[in-house]
Amino acid sequence: MKNKRILLIIGGGIAAYKCLDLIRRLREFGAGVRVVMTRAAQEFITPLSVSALTNERVFTDLFDLDDEREIGHIRLSREADAIIVAPATADLIAKIAGGHANDLATSVLLASDKALLLAPAMNPRMWLNPATQRNVCQLEADGVRFVGPEEGEMAERGEAGPGRMAETSELISALEAMPGIAGSGKALLGSLSGKHVVITSGPTHEPIDPVRYIANRSSGKQGHAIAIAAQRAGAKVTLISGPVDLPDPSGVDTWHVETATEMKDAVAGALPADIAVFCAAVADWKVAEQVGQKIKKAKGAPSPTLKLVTNPDILKTVASLKSGRPKLVVGFAAETEKVIDHARAKLASKGCDLIVANDVSAATGVMGGDRNSVHLVTHDGEISWPEMSKDAVAAKLIDELALRLGDSKLAESTKKKRGQRRARAKPKKTKKVRKT
Ligand SMILES: Cc1cc2nc3c(=O)[nH]c(=O)nc-3n(C[C@H](O)[C@H](O)[C@H](O)COP(=O)(O)O)c2cc1C
Repeated sequence: MKNKRILLIIGGGIAAYKCLDLIRRLREFGAGVRVVMTRAAQEFITPLSVSALTNERVFTDLFDLDDEREIGHIRLSREADAIIVAPATADLIAKIAGGHANDLATSVLLASDKALLLAPAMNPRMWLNPATQRNVCQLEADGVRFVGPEEGEMAERGEAGPGRMAETSELISALEAMPGIAGSGKALLGSLSGKHVVITSGPTHEPIDPVRYIANRSSGKQGHAIAIAAQRAGAKVTLISGPVDLPDPSGVDTWHVETATEMKDAVAGALPADIAVFCAAVADWKVAEQVGQKIKKAKGAPSPTLKLVTNPDILKTVASLKSGRPKLVVGFAAETEKVIDHARAKLASKGCDLIVANDVSAATGVMGGDRNSVHLVTHDGEISWPEMSKDAVAAKLIDELALRLGDSKLAESTKKKRGQRRARAKPKKTKKVRKT
């Protein structure tokens, strides 16, 4: 968030007061916040309070001569890295979906090409009204992102259901994952269009008998977030998921598997791909001999001993494919000590292009949690990203991969052109110039 410029548009709902906390937190993170308030928003909180927190003037009027001369409604959007509307009232959602521009907020939004996040807040019946739902579907199809609403008690007594505005921490996590914030901003909608991305996610379950299995604590949150980010960047995504407690991401072709062997077969079936991201926490071992019946605890009998054998190495298998290798093969390293050293060793031994290393020791809360702090280890060096939400890690990673894929296309064509130039310059040697 540091040095990012957020344009916050405050709509006229009771949840407007929560924006004061949002502004305070964003500024603590080092972001600059500029605010537009609708006329209705000013019935709930004052521009004076907002301005005191942003340390900037607050913009309220499309026809204010001074505002228009100094900043102008077009510049308000142009100078922002991302725009958030909070609370996004039913009325604002309808106006944005319909392309209206009859006040400052909607004019700024219509004149904008920046990533847009809406945080709806309204009475549950307003939210569930087919008109609102139609507008939300339209906006999602237009690439607008939503955070919330959440279920819960409404400000009106006796009202409960979906409609509460997401909490400040959720708003910040969702903002962190926006293209203009998380990445360079170059991997916007469509940057992976026409590309196929295969992603594995979650744990594997290795059966011991029909009722017991060996598992690990992977939740699948990071892998699923990467699948969503790749889909948002326009890729065709195949997500191969171990057993997780998460819904299948919409628009993503999700295949469900249980064991490492099933995951390996599914990956083979999903290729070819341009990018493969192996985020799943695949069990290293499986039980050598599964038994067909439940192992019984017999009185006085010794405890059973499990003999383990090594599972297939999916990352290494795909990274070393002679033909049909994805252009970018990415592995994840979940380590509890010497994170970068182990990741570098893994990069060398697996033959992949990039390792995303994370510290999963219990104190970090990464396994099963919503946040992550990762190191990208490549053959050129390593980059450490600050702690952020798993959604933000996913968006930033997809941004990075889209750029690397673009660079590899560039490198290939440069190599080709160089070869052709050399062929022209030294005609006798042309036979030896292999066209790549
Ligand atoms: C007390 C009160 C609370 C309101 N709360 C909400 C709300 O939470 N969500 C919403 O969509 N509209 C709410 N409204 C209705 C909006 O204020 C109204 O639709 C207004 O035109 C929205 O303007 P805006 O979208 O330009 O900000 C409320 C109205 C009143 C009087």
